[in-house]
Amino acid sequence: MSNNIEGKVVVITGASSGLGEATARLLSAQGANVMLGARRVDRIQALAAELTSRGGKAIAITTDVTRYEQVKSLVDAAVQAFGRIDVMINNAGLMPQSPLERLKINDWDQMIDVNIKGVLYGIAAALPHMKQQKSGHIINVSSVAGHKVRAGGAVYAATKHAVRALSEGLRQEVKPYNIRTTVISPGAVATELPNSVTEPDVAENFQKFYEAFAIPADSFARAVAYAISEPEDVDINEILFRPTKQEV
Ligand SMILES: NC(=O)c1ccc[n+]([C@@H]2O[C@H](COP(=O)([O-])OP(=O)(O)OC[C@H]3O[C@@H](n4cnc5c(N)ncnc54)[C@H](OP(=O)(O)O)[C@@H]3O)[C@@H](O)[C@H]2O)c1
Repeated sequence: MSNNIEGKVVVITGASSGLGEATARLLSAQGANVMLGARRVDRIQALAAELTSRGGKAIAITTDVTRYEQVKSLVDAAVQAFGRIDVMINNAGLMPQSPLERLKINDWDQMIDVNIKGVLYGIAAALPHMKQQKSGHIINVSSVAGHKVRAGGAVYAATKHAVRALSEGLRQEVKPYNIRTTVISPGAVATELPNSVTEPDVAENFQKFYEAFAIPADSFARAVAYAISEPEDVDINEILFRPTKQEV
């Protein structure tokens, strides 16, 4: 029986580490053709080479999601190489949290540019192809912070609430085109994400929290695989998961 993943063309942003990398590995092992985007090209090239050596089909292209033309090139390259795009995973993101009163304007700008505009650019790049195909699946990555706001995390939470709002609007708008939409909201998952925190005291707290609570990145990859592998007439719209130990 088909797993509904084999042979699908999947574009993943932020594929150079963490959730994106784990997802590329799992989907490739299940037969997907993966197009990997991130800025650290050495990482995604090594990953593509590894997946190819295991019999998969994987291509890496340097992509900064804050640049629309680069995201469009990534998606267009997938269509050119593999003939179509079945799944767009807007995963790239960062989390330089700090209290608002510290006025970390550059961090705010970066979170808005990567976490919100990067997702919008991914939608813009994939949607025309999917409309034409009359099929496709757009998966956006929010967070528990897209459901709950905590002091010290207002801007990150705002970006992840925005991802959920965009995903719900998108879900309703793409009905005529037979496109599925999923927003996945993870709790603490062991990745390089805490490294994006720029304030030393906040970073230290995150490191401790992640060491105590975080679960492996494969947990996210399995959620993605579940959403994709459901039959085409089933649209898994939202997945929220946490480490069993995580209270917030
Ligand atoms: N880990 C968690 O606990 C957790 C929980 C909830 C939500 N999330 C979300 O999950 C997503 C993935 O994060 P992660 O946990 O896997 O963290 P990670 O290991 O730090 O990975 C982040 C990825 O985003 C990419 N990225 C950052 N800025 C980018 C840019 N301008 N253009 C393209 N790619 C960019 C990075 O690649 P390059 O640096 O190579 O460009 C990297 O591949 C994020 O949206 C994050 O908010 C994570």
